[in-house]
Amino acid sequence: MDVNIKPGGKLTALQVMQDAPVIPVIVLTDVKQAVLLARALVAGGIRMLEVTLRTPQALACIEAIARDVPEAVTGAGTVRSAADAQACAMAGARFAVSPGYTHAVGQACRDAGLPLLPGVATGSEIMMAQEDGLTELKFFPAMQAGGPAMLKAWSGPFGDVRFCPTGGVSTANAAEFLSLPNVVCVGGSWLTPADVLARGDWAQVTALAQQACRLQRE
Ligand code: 3PG
Repeated sequence: MDVNIKPGGKLTALQVMQDAPVIPVIVLTDVKQAVLLARALVAGGIRMLEVTLRTPQALACIEAIARDVPEAVTGAGTVRSAADAQACAMAGARFAVSPGYTHAVGQACRDAGLPLLPGVATGSEIMMAQEDGLTELKFFPAMQAGGPAMLKAWSGPFGDVRFCPTGGVSTANAAEFLSLPNVVCVGGSWLTPADVLARGDWAQVTALAQQACRLQRE
């Protein structure tokens, strides 16, 4: 996708979703590893990176990638509060992903200038996000909450919403999700397996990213 990702530039949630077929969901505990991992993903064609706020080092890792890997766009995942949104924006995150949705998180992301991909699993949650003007949503946890069949059911009443299914998505089912007209991209942790990170096998990460980029979208 031809999106200008230069540092300081503003992106929309749709641009974040359209950049590649997969947004990697990343758990990091080491700042040096963060930079090497980000470079390996970029080398494989993946630029939009979701670093989850699940470790004490997550904000420092976001900061390091934002500073040292300008070819990547670092986002924060697991944003669950207004404070999380503020902290990740301060660290240099340029988009936010949340496992659910609250008006407070939506407002904090707007205030911080962060495009937000909020997690939804029910019609009511979709309606609440839509009330706040959000039409690009994460379907989470995608497999556990109904998989592709759920997205097909939602395409009628919520035909104006586009989704990033995440949770239980893998090479085995990503293509099926991506073939749905209301799916723009998927999210998943399979590009950054813990054991591959632990042994610093960056070539393997690049190979997984390249494979993900070959997944077809409709
Ligand atoms: C998560 O919560 O870690 C993400 O949704 C990724 O889920 P996955 O590990 O099933 O890809």
